[in-house]
Amino acid sequence: MAQNLSLVLGLVLATALLVVVQASPVQIPDLTKCQVASASSPAGPLVTLYFNCCLPLTGPMIDFSFERYKSPQKHIRRPAHTASEEYIAKYIKAYELMRALPDTDPRSLKVQANIHCSFCNGGYLQRGVNGDIPLQVHFSWLFLPWHRWYLYFHERILASLIGDPGFSLLYWNWDDQVHGGNQIPEAFTRVNTSLYDEKRRPEVQPPTIVPLAASTPANLSASVVTNENLNNMYQSIVTASTATLFMGGALRAGDDLRKSTVINAPLGGAIENGVHTAIHFYVGDPRTQLLQDMGNFGTASRDPLFYSHHGNVDRLWEEWRFNMPDGERFDHTDPDFLNAEFVFYDENANMVRVKVKDALDNKKLGVYYKKGLSDNRWINYSPPATTNESAVAAAVASGVPFVGESPLNGTINIGTNFSAIVKRPSEKKPSKKLEVLNIQGVQVVRDEFVALVAYVNLPGAGRGTPTDSAEYLGTFNIVPTSGQSRQLFTNVKYEIGDNLKRIGIQNEEEVVISLVTTGSNATVTIEGLKIDYEDQ
Ligand code: C2O
Repeated sequence: MAQNLSLVLGLVLATALLVVVQASPVQIPDLTKCQVASASSPAGPLVTLYFNCCLPLTGPMIDFSFERYKSPQKHIRRPAHTASEEYIAKYIKAYELMRALPDTDPRSLKVQANIHCSFCNGGYLQRGVNGDIPLQVHFSWLFLPWHRWYLYFHERILASLIGDPGFSLLYWNWDDQVHGGNQIPEAFTRVNTSLYDEKRRPEVQPPTIVPLAASTPANLSASVVTNENLNNMYQSIVTASTATLFMGGALRAGDDLRKSTVINAPLGGAIENGVHTAIHFYVGDPRTQLLQDMGNFGTASRDPLFYSHHGNVDRLWEEWRFNMPDGERFDHTDPDFLNAEFVFYDENANMVRVKVKDALDNKKLGVYYKKGLSDNRWINYSPPATTNESAVAAAVASGVPFVGESPLNGTINIGTNFSAIVKRPSEKKPSKKLEVLNIQGVQVVRDEFVALVAYVNLPGAGRGTPTDSAEYLGTFNIVPTSGQSRQLFTNVKYEIGDNLKRIGIQNEEEVVISLVTTGSNATVTIEGLKIDYEDQ
């Protein structure tokens, strides 16, 4: 009996090992098997929204090639707030045509929105893996390339509907804190036009500045919000210099964002988790269930503003790659990243199979960005420190616990705010490495919006602590989502060396890390805190 048991255990272990060794890129799911995605809200009266975002099957799938999709003209994407009246009229027309297509047409706004819904809300399961694992294109290295492809085909469809091969998306230059890019672009707020969506937060209509941290209180002065925005850009793009920190970590076939083991749980990158998701939160309408449209993945891309928002995210990927002061940076090179496959519809309603590796150079896709209006402001932002000596002694005196790496801590419920003393690596930092804080095993049920904000050296940090200083590490914003993908289990990482140096505590052996939740009272737990050196 005992022998049998160990035999069985051995087999289980061997299979587990095999699965690990045979990791492979995410594949296109079986589109004939679609599940109705649902989302329920625990806050207030229980409401469940059902999203039927199953995609139409339009015949044999075409393989993408640069040759086949060569564009006769460049697509030059410009900041939305600089668009001429003439261009806005054209833009309105293009979305009118897209909205007018029947719901069964893959080029209609309805189906375009369902593409996002189905790959984010558990509409399809991963193919070629054991068990039922939803396909999820957020919270990992898939995020940037998937959305780049999504915009690429969306733009081609608009261009073909309006009969102008040079038609280009306008990008929402929300990082521009100088020339008004940081408001919802006026063109999208014209009631009764195709660019308007009534499900948007009433308090963030222009001229209100859209904050880039979801923890920003409503009553702050414009100059504080502006500095918080610059620091949020700085922390999520300038100091997040590695592919993992910026774009997110590995997600391979079979990885399950609901129950990965802590050590290899994938992680979303700073661009996604921070500023990108904060915008979704601020545009979503709190008068609706689940912050429709922009505030949850099931409905976000029903709003034409979504595509302009993501235009900026895509532009910032290029900025991060080529225009940072420390020189060129590099995308992931892992074959499981490069060979991950997705499916979209082209302007002829054909299904197209694409690979991540073909999305890594916008110019090859015929896509160009006109420079943002004030990128240098955040690239050169120098966050002031509000402290100048270690807070560890004071924290020890007030009973702040030591927390080490997973799995030694069990599960820690962080409540609304939690502080811990964390050891730094004892050896000196090799010059080519970055010092990184890993918040291990963050777990949350995504029924409501919640933001997890991290600070260093501020044991008193709580809701409302500003995010414009060197003590701010970053925010992990989590948008609500539905049924199968509600559970999220992930690691969150922030570069921390730059912060410590600015505060002047770079020689301390330990530091105080504080985590604050805001946005709702959803329960967030973690399994450990670890500071380590990681490759650049
Ligand atoms: Cu697919 Cu902005 O999210």
